Formats: sequence, C-alpha cells, structure tokens
Amino acid sequence: MAGKVFNFTLCLVCLCLFCVHITHFQAEASQNTQDIKATVSVSDCGKCHEDVVFTLSTKGKAHQALCGDCHKGHPPEDVGIIPLCSQCHNEESDHFRLEGCMTCHVNPHAPLEIQLTRDMTKPCVSCHGEQMEQLQKYPSIHTILACTACHTYHGQIQPCTNCHLPHSDTMKDDSCTVCHQAHMPLEIRYGDSILSEDCGSCHKDEYKQMTTNTSKHRIVSCISCHSDTHGNIPECKKCHGLPHAEKIHSRYKTCGECHGLAHNLDATAASTNIFVKDRK
Ligand code: HEC
Ligand code: HEC
Ligand code: HEC
Ligand code: HEC
Ligand code: HEC
Ligand code: HEC
Ligand code: HEC
Ligand code: HEC
Ligand code: HEC
Ligand code: HEC
Ligand code: HEC
Ligand code: HEC
Repeated sequence: MAGKVFNFTLCLVCLCLFCVHITHFQAEASQNTQDIKATVSVSDCGKCHEDVVFTLSTKGKAHQALCGDCHKGHPPEDVGIIPLCSQCHNEESDHFRLEGCMTCHVNPHAPLEIQLTRDMTKPCVSCHGEQMEQLQKYPSIHTILACTACHTYHGQIQPCTNCHLPHSDTMKDDSCTVCHQAHMPLEIRYGDSILSEDCGSCHKDEYKQMTTNTSKHRIVSCISCHSDTHGNIPECKKCHGLPHAEKIHSRYKTCGECHGLAHNLDATAASTNIFVKDRK
C-alpha cells in the first residue's frame, strides 16, 4: 500500500513538473516568436534608448508609433531586428526603386530629416520630373549642373546672386526671376512687373534717351512697347492705330519719317513743314 501511495505521489510530482515545463515552454515560445512586448514593452525601450525614443517622439512623423513593427524582438535572443525599408515601402513608384534609402533618409527615427550630397540629380527626378523636363528642353549651363549644386538641402531655394552678379548696381538681387526662370535661364520671360531701369542695366543708351527727353513716351515703360519676348520691336499702330489722314499714311512708309525715334519723339520739329505741304 505504501508503495502505491509513493507511486501516486511520484506521479503527481511528475505531472506537476511536466505542467510547469509546458507552461514555461509556451511562455518562451511566445516571447521568441510573437513579440518582445510580452516581456519588454515599448514603454520600456526608453529606459535604455532614451535618445531614440526622444528623436522618435519629436521627429518620428509617421514612424512614431511603429517601434514594435520595425524591431521585432531584442538581442541577444533575437538577431536581425533591423528592418529593411522595402518591408513596408513596397508600392510601385520610381522613388521606392532608388537604391540606398538611408543615404538620404539618414535616420529612420526621423524619416524626414534628409541629407543630400553635392551631386544628386537622378533621385530628385523621381519626384520632380517637371524641373528636369525644363532643364533638358531648354539647354543651358544649368542643365549640366546637379540639382543639389543649387538645392543643397531639401526645399532650399538659393538666391541667384549667390552665384551671379546682377547686371548693374541698381538692379535688385531679387529681381532676377522676373526675367529669368531657374531651370530655363536663357528663355527670357516678359512679365508686367519689369522695371525699365532693369532693361537699362544693359541698354544704357536707350534708357538714358528715354528718360531725358520731354515727349510723352518717357512715361511709357520699356515692356509696354517691347512686349512678349526679348528683342521684340513694336509697331506704332499697336497703340495709336493710324491717327492721321489716310493720304499721309499712304505717302509716308514709317511714322518715324516725321516723328523720329520712338525713344525721342521729335514730332513738331520734324513735321510741321510737311503738314503745311499736305494741307495745300
Ligand atoms: C535594459 C536595457 C534595454 C531595454 C529596455 C531595451 N534595449 Fe535595446 N538594446 C540594449 C542594449 C544594451 C543594446 C545593445 C545590444 C547589442 O548590441 O547586442 C540594444 C540594442 C538594440 C537595438 C540594436 C540592435 C542591433 O542589431 O543593432 C535595437 C533596434 C533595440 N535595442 C531596440 C529596442 C527596443 C525596440 C526596445 C523596446 C521594446 C529596447 N531596445 C529595449 C538595451 C535595451
Ligand atoms: C520605421 C522603422 C523603425 C522604427 C519605427 C524604429 N526603428 Fe529603430 N531602427 C530602425 C532602423 C532601420 C535602424 C538601423 C539604423 C542604422 O542602420 O543606422 C534602427 C536602429 C535602432 C537602434 C540602434 C542604432 C541607434 O540608433 O541607436 C536602436 C537602439 C533603435 N533603433 C531603437 C528603436 C526604438 C527604441 C524604437 C521605438 C521607440 C525604434 N527604434 C523605432 C528602424 C526603426
Ligand atoms: C514597419 C513598416 C515600416 C518600415 C520598416 C519603414 N517605414 Fe517608413 N513609413 C511607414 C508608414 C506606415 C508610413 C506612413 C505612410 C506612408 O507614407 O507610406 C511611413 C512613412 C515614411 C516617410 C514619410 C514620413 C511622413 O511622416 O510623411 C518616410 C520618409 C519614410 N517612411 C521612410 C522610411 C525609410 C527610409 C525606411 C527604412 C529605413 C522606412 N521608412 C521603413 C512604415 C514603415
Ligand atoms: C536622394 C535622396 C533620397 C533617396 C535615395 C531616397 N529618398 Fe525618400 N525622399 C527624399 C526626399 C527629398 C523626400 C521628400 C521629403 C518631403 O516631402 O519633404 C522623400 C520622401 C520619401 C517618403 C515620403 C513621401 C512619399 O512619396 O511617400 C518616403 C516614404 C520615402 N521617401 C521613402 C524612401 C525609400 C523607401 C527609399 C529607398 C528605396 C528612399 N526614400 C530613397 C529623398 C530620398
Ligand atoms: C519623394 C518625393 C521627393 C523627392 C525624391 C524630392 N522631392 Fe523635393 N519636394 C517634394 C515635395 C512633396 C515638396 C513640397 C513639400 C515640401 O516643401 O516639403 C518638395 C519641395 C522641394 C523644393 C521646394 C519647392 C518650393 O516651392 O519651395 C525644392 C527646391 C525641392 N523639393 C528640390 C528637390 C531636390 C533637389 C531633390 C533631390 C535631392 C528633391 N527635391 C527630391 C518631393 C520630393
Ligand atoms: C549654385 C550656383 C548657381 C545658382 C544659384 C544660379 N546659377 Fe546661373 N549659372 C551657374 C553657373 C556655374 C553657370 C555657368 C557659368 C556662368 O555663366 O557663370 C550659370 C549660368 C547661368 C546663365 C547662362 C547660361 C548659359 O548657358 O549661358 C544664366 C542666364 C543664369 N546662370 C541665370 C541664373 C539665374 C537667373 C539664377 C537664379 C534663378 C541662377 N542662374 C542661379 C550657377 C548658378
Ligand atoms: C542653377 C541652379 C539650379 C539648378 C541646377 C536646379 N535648380 Fe531648382 N530652383 C533653382 C532656383 C533659383 C529656384 C527658385 C525659382 C523661383 O523662385 O522662381 C528653383 C526652384 C525649384 C523648385 C520649386 C518649384 C519651381 O519649379 O520653381 C523645385 C521643385 C526644384 N527647383 C527642383 C530642382 C530639380 C529637381 C533640379 C535638378 C533636376 C533643379 N531644381 C536644378 C535653382 C536651381
Ligand atoms: C530685365 C530683365 C532681366 C533681369 C531683371 C535680369 N536679367 Fe539676366 N539677362 C537678361 C537678358 C535679356 C539676358 C540675355 C542677354 C543676351 O542675350 O546676351 C540676360 C543674361 C543673363 C546671364 C548670362 C550671362 C550674361 O551676363 O549675359 C546671367 C548669368 C544673368 N542674366 C543673370 C541674372 C541675374 C543674377 C539677375 C538678377 C540679379 C538677372 N539676370 C536679372 C535679362 C534680365
Ligand atoms: C543682360 C543684358 C540685357 C538686359 C537686362 C536686357 N537686354 Fe535687350 N538685348 C541685350 C542684348 C545683348 C541684345 C542684342 C542681342 C540679341 O539680339 O539678343 C538685346 C537686344 C534687344 C532688343 C532688340 C534690338 C535689335 O536691334 O533688334 C530690344 C528691343 C531689347 N533688347 C529690349 C530690351 C528690353 C525692353 C529689356 C528689358 C525688359 C531688355 N532688352 C533687357 C541685352 C539685354
Ligand atoms: C513707345 C514705345 C517704346 C518704348 C517705351 C521703348 N521703346 Fe525701344 N524701341 C521702340 C521702337 C519702335 C524701336 C525701333 C526703332 C524705332 O523705331 O525707334 C525701338 C528700339 C529699341 C532697341 C533697338 C536698338 C535701337 O535703339 O534701335 C532697343 C535696345 C530698345 N528699343 C530698348 C528700349 C528700352 C531699354 C526701353 C526702355 C528704357 C525702350 N526701348 C522703350 C519702341 C519703344
Ligand atoms: C505701347 C503703346 C505705344 C506704342 C507702341 C507707341 N506709343 Fe506713342 N504714345 C503712347 C502713349 C501712352 C502716349 C502718351 C499719350 C498721352 O498721354 O496722350 C504716346 C504718345 C505719342 C505721341 C505724342 C507725343 C507727345 O509728346 O505729345 C506721339 C507723336 C507718338 N506717341 C508716336 C508714336 C510713334 C511714332 C510710335 C512708333 C514708333 C509710337 N508712338 C508707339 C503709347 C505708345
Ligand atoms: C508726315 C509726317 C507724319 C507722319 C508720317 C506721321 N505723323 Fe504723327 N504727327 C505728325 C505731326 C506734325 C503731329 C503733331 C500734330 C499736332 O500737334 O496737331 C503728329 C502727331 C501725332 C500724335 C499725337 C496726337 C495728339 O493728339 O497728341 C500721334 C500719337 C501720332 N502723331 C502718331 C503717328 C503714328 C502712329 C504714325 C504712323 C502710323 C504717324 N503719327 C505718322 C506728323 C506725322
């Protein structure tokens, strides 16, 4: 009988040991295969990785809440807990086909902190195709510069005058893009806001002539006559029509025969006599 009791006790001890073992094994399995949160929760990470948690909470942007999605487990039990970007960013896009995500996104805990090097063009075009199109359609020396020669950090806009001198002392540093476009700098565009003084930076004689005579043209801006494209010469009738008697206009091929230069009208002096002749 005593032997039976002994056996039964032994059995019970065995069973208990077995149970304990099972529970322990299950606990271990869940720790290894499921999720480190079971033992070290994300709220614990900061106890040892204060800097990372701080960065993530201040600059983590969309990555902020993804700690456990990126790092599954923890060394030494778990190895290879550093995720690949492509694990999540795997949609079809030119941008996600680039190599070396972390050459620009240098810190996954601050994903929008982007570092650029001096010679980048191709990766920029994965998003800014339009700028590249302009640079190629209108070749200039800017076309052979890397994007990051001018944009040294993402979103930076440098003033043109960091690299060029204005055309004259009177020209303002921020006036350049009124006439030039950064990605097609030789295509001079004509807006309404161009100052005559700025045309005068290069056309000094014309500017002087225009501003020092007494005719009413002196108040007309350069671009209201020379409109649309650089070098365009206007016809007088664009603004005046044909103001005189038809006989006069058919006899004289150009208005200038009587009025002289557009920049220095000399109407009365040049033509009084002719008018007298015409009236006869
Ligand atoms: C008790 C301190 C401690 C806690 C808590 C802790 N870590 Fe660590 N962690 C370390 C140490 C120490 C290392 C360096 C271990 C090594 O290099 O083997 C490390 C390394 C890492 C690494 C780098 C692994 C690699 O392969 O380079 C990552 C990622 C990491 N921890 C994430 C976490 C996350 C996520 C948490 C919270 C869930 C966390 N840690 C909680 C101490 C801790
Ligand atoms: C979007 C994914 C992602 C998230 C979210 C993320 N990490 Fe990381 N983490 C990485 C990558 C990728 C690296 C490797 C960085 C490298 O190679 O320079 C890394 C590296 C680390 C390292 C080792 C290098 C270092 O910077 O000290 C630690 C520690 C770490 N992470 C902790 C954490 C903790 C703690 C959290 C959450 C509170 C977290 N990470 C959230 C992707 C992530
Ligand atoms: C565990 C999944 C995961 C991993 C791994 C991961 N990301 Fe993300 N990331 C996301 C999610 C989710 C978003 C928000 C939605 C989106 O933009 O696709 C995001 C957003 C971003 C953003 C935009 C942030 C914002 O707030 O607008 C950048 C940049 C980024 N990730 C870069 C990276 C880089 C670089 C890596 C590799 C070092 C990486 N991610 C790894 C999940 C991940
Ligand atoms: C040449 C630098 C560069 C490289 C290389 C690069 N990125 Fe980016 N990435 C950027 C810039 C710049 C932005 C725009 C940030 C902004 O909107 O302010 C960006 C934005 C993002 C965004 C958020 C916007 C979006 O389109 O969803 C994600 C996600 C992203 N990158 C992931 C990646 C991944 C993944 C890789 C590698 C396959 C990668 N990046 C390679 C520079 C780079
Ligand atoms: C993933 C897409 C993406 C990539 C890659 C990218 N950008 Fe951007 N970029 C954007 C977005 C979106 C904006 C507008 C939002 C902002 O200002 O962050 C922007 C804004 C800019 C601006 C400022 C525009 C303004 O009106 O102020 C410049 C300049 C610029 N990017 C240049 C670059 C250069 C140079 C590169 C290559 C190193 C690059 N970008 C790579 C998406 C991208
Ligand atoms: C980071 C420097 C840099 C910036 C910023 C810059 N340029 Fe240039 N640009 C150059 C270089 C280098 C050349 C070629 C040498 C030269 O003509 O000075 C050039 C040439 C030019 C040319 C002549 C192009 C040709 O093919 O003959 C024009 C016009 C021009 N730039 C206008 C501008 C304007 C307008 C801006 C501002 C919107 C600007 N640049 C901003 C560097 C720059
Ligand atoms: C010579 C210098 C220079 C080069 C090279 C250059 N940019 Fe720019 N970029 C500028 C300047 C200056 C502006 C601001 C223009 C303005 O204010 O009108 C600008 C504006 C931008 C903008 C804002 C939107 C726009 O079109 O005005 C984006 C985006 C941009 N550049 C992307 C690029 C990309 C991508 C490349 C390479 C393919 C590139 N840039 C090459 C000087 C440059
Ligand atoms: C009133 C219009 C106008 C303004 C404003 C203007 N430019 Fe120009 N720029 C021109 C014209 C027109 C040319 C072309 C002349 C030619 O055909 O040789 C030119 C040519 C250039 C060139 C090519 C080299 C040269 O000197 O001929 C550079 C560089 C340049 N401009 C830079 C600038 C910068 C920088 C600014 C702003 C400080 C600026 N421009 C403002 C009209 C303008
Ligand atoms: C950077 C110097 C520069 C600036 C600024 C400039 N021009 Fe010119 N312009 C020139 C040069 C050089 C020529 C002659 C070469 C050519 O025909 O392209 C010229 C030619 C002209 C011609 C044609 C002359 C002819 O004989 O056919 C007119 C008209 C003219 N410019 C008007 C203007 C007006 C108006 C402005 C202001 C909006 C202006 N220019 C700004 C340099 C400049
Ligand atoms: C009322 C219209 C008008 C205004 C204002 C005007 N121009 Fe002219 N410009 C002309 C006409 C017309 C010609 C062709 C020659 C002529 O008929 O006098 C011309 C010719 C030119 C030429 C070619 C060279 C020459 O002298 O023949 C240049 C350069 C020029 N203008 C620059 C300017 C500049 C710079 C301004 C502003 C300071 C200006 N123009 C204002 C009408 C105008
Ligand atoms: C962009 C429009 C424009 C063009 C082109 C133009 N003019 Fe004028 N012109 C004017 C304006 C404005 C006045 C002043 C009208 C007023 O105040 O009554 C004027 C006045 C005149 C006057 C009277 C001058 C005075 O001092 O009393 C004459 C003459 C004249 N223009 C001749 C010409 C001739 C000739 C041409 C061609 C070479 C020409 N205009 C081209 C706009 C123009
Ligand atoms: C045969 C010489 C002659 C020709 C050709 C000529 N004009 Fe005149 N124009 C004059 C004289 C003279 C006056 C001054 C008349 C007056 O003060 O009553 C005048 C006056 C003007 C005035 C000022 C009118 C006002 O009421 O103040 C304009 C504008 C004008 N001309 C435009 C033109 C235009 C445009 C052409 C060419 C299509 C042209 N003229 C051709 C001789 C001429």
